[in-house]
Amino acid sequence: MDRAQRCAFIIFGITGDLGARKLLPALYALHRNGRLHPETAIIGYARSDHTDGSLRAKLEKSLERFVPDFDRKSWAHLAPRIHYIRGGYADAAGFATLHNHLKGTGLESRILYTATPPEVYESIALGIVGVGLNRSEGFTRLVIEKPFGTDLESARELNRTLLQCFNEEQLYRIDHYLAKETAQNLAVLRFANTLFEPIWSNRSVDNIQITMAEPMGMEGRGEFYEQAGVIRDVFQNHLLQLVALIAMEPPSNYDATSVRNEKVKVFDAMAPLKPDRAVLGQYVASNGMPGYREEKGVAPDSRQATFAAVHFDILNWRWSGVPFFVRSGKRLEGKASQIVLQFKVPPHIPFTLDRDLKPDRLILRLVPNEGITIRFNGKVPGQGIDLDRISLNFSYGSRFNRPIPDAYETLLLDVMLGDATLFMRADEVESQWRVVMPLIDHLDLELEEPHFYSAGSLGPKAAYTMLTEQGRHWYRPWD
Ligand code: BG6
Repeated sequence: MDRAQRCAFIIFGITGDLGARKLLPALYALHRNGRLHPETAIIGYARSDHTDGSLRAKLEKSLERFVPDFDRKSWAHLAPRIHYIRGGYADAAGFATLHNHLKGTGLESRILYTATPPEVYESIALGIVGVGLNRSEGFTRLVIEKPFGTDLESARELNRTLLQCFNEEQLYRIDHYLAKETAQNLAVLRFANTLFEPIWSNRSVDNIQITMAEPMGMEGRGEFYEQAGVIRDVFQNHLLQLVALIAMEPPSNYDATSVRNEKVKVFDAMAPLKPDRAVLGQYVASNGMPGYREEKGVAPDSRQATFAAVHFDILNWRWSGVPFFVRSGKRLEGKASQIVLQFKVPPHIPFTLDRDLKPDRLILRLVPNEGITIRFNGKVPGQGIDLDRISLNFSYGSRFNRPIPDAYETLLLDVMLGDATLFMRADEVESQWRVVMPLIDHLDLELEEPHFYSAGSLGPKAAYTMLTEQGRHWYRPWD
């Protein structure tokens, strides 16, 4: 069992939502499972007025809320190792105080985490360098939260600044989808078995579908979403990462360099996303839920897309001719993230059937009920040949009797171990932006109204026609 290296873990913006919902629960879980080095110091840095005591009390409250089996006894061991430093993100005095505090801890290695609004990432990097916080006997690693830029140009600019301050090996760009159990299992499924590789290409696969459906609306993020929209929020990052995990060639080693090299090749083989390959939607009031335009921080005539269904093509020998259909939206029927590989029907069917033969499917469920299902045709017992659908089902919950760690728990441990495999490299993020830029440029012009869909539905009709026009259809995530 790997245990994190001894270090100070500094969280910029510790008083924000990410700290409360994800980072502290993850650090607490690592501490509770014996994965955190016992001498780890957690240092919160933010602008609000707090003392060590008031920060600890605030964090305790949020742990009670977000950790189902919160245990006060183990918190009592972790809490005294949490300290607070008040400072601005462009404030040299604040960074100097942080530096002095770190000297006092005697911890030479440090992880610096940007849980702040993205506008201050660059000034944090410059502030760190300004006081020499990046120079020490131990390691210094900077973790950059999403969103990484708002377009290709700003992502390049951010990379340029970060790389003036740090080496690429010190930078950990987060995409928490990579640390989801099923996303990681995808690599194991493909590269630790021989069963799937021969059918993992345009020879057998008809199309691939990725769905990321969310029932929530804006939850107070209306202002952010007005700028981001669904393409920047989840397509440029999470969904493209899932596409890459499905489409990449087997790496020679499962390490940061080999895996990221293979993923970049996929992005480079992707045709840039044109507007005519996308259906964009926006939810309207229904089922007692407000429409997007009624959400706080959203313009009453906003044309921002809260839903998109897009058709990606990967132009290489393995995937040419296989459409990757990817859809995601807010205020949909329920929560589900899944990947479906739909296989071709056999070239000849020797049975007389009274209905069309359904294609075989491999379904990878990220949420809910993490697991894998294979759907295929089987014979109904009895005389004659009658077919029905059969499922082979693997569920993490019933196979492994242990809780699935939250993605952030895995990611924070990896940063403390120095393993960047689940993080994105500079060229990788830029390649991802390159793929979505034509659609983003088009969207920013706000030329057309999006397709409207009812809150609580499965998105606009046009997303369905996009597939039925090709003789295909979406696989429902909850079937
Ligand atoms: C975030 C997006 O990156 O991912 C959110 O900004 C989205 O809009 C979230 O809700 C989804 O993550 P998960 O882990 O709940 O599927």
